[in-house]
Amino acid sequence: MPEILLKNVTKKWGGFTAVENLNLEIEDGAFITLLGPSGCGKTTTLRMIAGLETPSSGEILIDGKVVFSSEQGINISAAKRDIGFLFQNYALWPHMTVYQNIAFGLETLKWKKSDIEKRVAEMLETLQITQFAQRYPSELSGGQQQRVAIARTLAPSPKVLFMDEPLSNLDAKLRGEMRTELKRLHADTGSTFVYVTHDQLEAMTMATKICLMKEGVLQQYDPPLKVYSLPANRFVADFVGNPTMNFIPASVKNVSEKSALVTMLGESFDFVSETPFEIAEGNATVGVRPEYLPISDDGAIHGTAYSTLPAGMETTVKIKVGNTILSSVMFGSLDYATDSNLRFTITGNMILLFDKNEKCVAHGTMVKHK
Ligand SMILES: Nc1ncnc2c1ncn2[C@@H]1O[C@H](COP(=O)(O)OP(=O)(O)O)[C@@H](O)[C@H]1O
Ligand SMILES: [Mg+2]
Repeated sequence: MPEILLKNVTKKWGGFTAVENLNLEIEDGAFITLLGPSGCGKTTTLRMIAGLETPSSGEILIDGKVVFSSEQGINISAAKRDIGFLFQNYALWPHMTVYQNIAFGLETLKWKKSDIEKRVAEMLETLQITQFAQRYPSELSGGQQQRVAIARTLAPSPKVLFMDEPLSNLDAKLRGEMRTELKRLHADTGSTFVYVTHDQLEAMTMATKICLMKEGVLQQYDPPLKVYSLPANRFVADFVGNPTMNFIPASVKNVSEKSALVTMLGESFDFVSETPFEIAEGNATVGVRPEYLPISDDGAIHGTAYSTLPAGMETTVKIKVGNTILSSVMFGSLDYATDSNLRFTITGNMILLFDKNEKCVAHGTMVKHK
């Protein structure tokens, strides 16, 4: 049974629709990220599941139980939904020690003193903050405070943990560390995590499934690597991955069941897919991830080095072909003189074809037409 089920959930404010007809099934023990640009409806969705916002219509079930139904007039309060929260502003109580901060919620729930002691000790250990138990929040770094906030949220063992951009106040290095710890914590606790972020890397690295939204409408709900390699449309393809996917203007003809002749970058290519697809002849867009454009001396396509950006482990090379600038990512540290000639290939079977409505209609290989 899925832990959380949303059926046709819509939220309107006056004439404005913040979330439109959302259907979502969150499995027990999943780590879901709600991902999308600012204002797309992530927080609203999270708050509706949690019971902090009332949907305009639809139905929400948690663990098989209807917690909201516009038709049946059911709306169970947040306090009775057995969930925990971790918000961006995780304000700890400044006059309480770390220990007291974590214990407080359990005292409110009237836990026995010995159980509280045991649970707080467990939480301190899990979050590796045992040595700070007697300190006050002001005596801790931002990252340590964040861990206390997580410990406080997890202490009552909520079945579902909601997090709304909990790492956005942290610096880049700490954010990276916390990603590791949250993923670890998810594995250790077995709880269901629902996590809001606008950061695609955060979503890619932590989630078991990404729910990608745009203007209140669900675009794709799939595991991260599927969203990455088989995006539903150009918006999704563009939103995940860094450097972003290359979108190359193209024109398509001679379309048969599993192949098409594609003209782009001033050349003709045979596009071949393993599965049948349909696309109208005429304008289209070819999508190529930067890692599928390797530079090599015998590459079939000619271009020039527009700029080279070595980052140590990998190098991003901007290649100019006619008026188009492409990104290629190569392993290792490389340097190509600005405007020097180079050659590259389009490799792999994950080259994407987008129709003129920006829908991804096929993935396949692309070789120069002979
Ligand atoms: N209380 C509210 N009243 C009116 N509009 C709101 C309210 N809360 C959010 N919105 C609007 O709903 C949209 C979605 O907001 P939100 O869910 O907070 O987006 P996100 O978390 O993805 O950045 C935004 O356009 C926002 O301005
Ligand atoms: Mg938000």
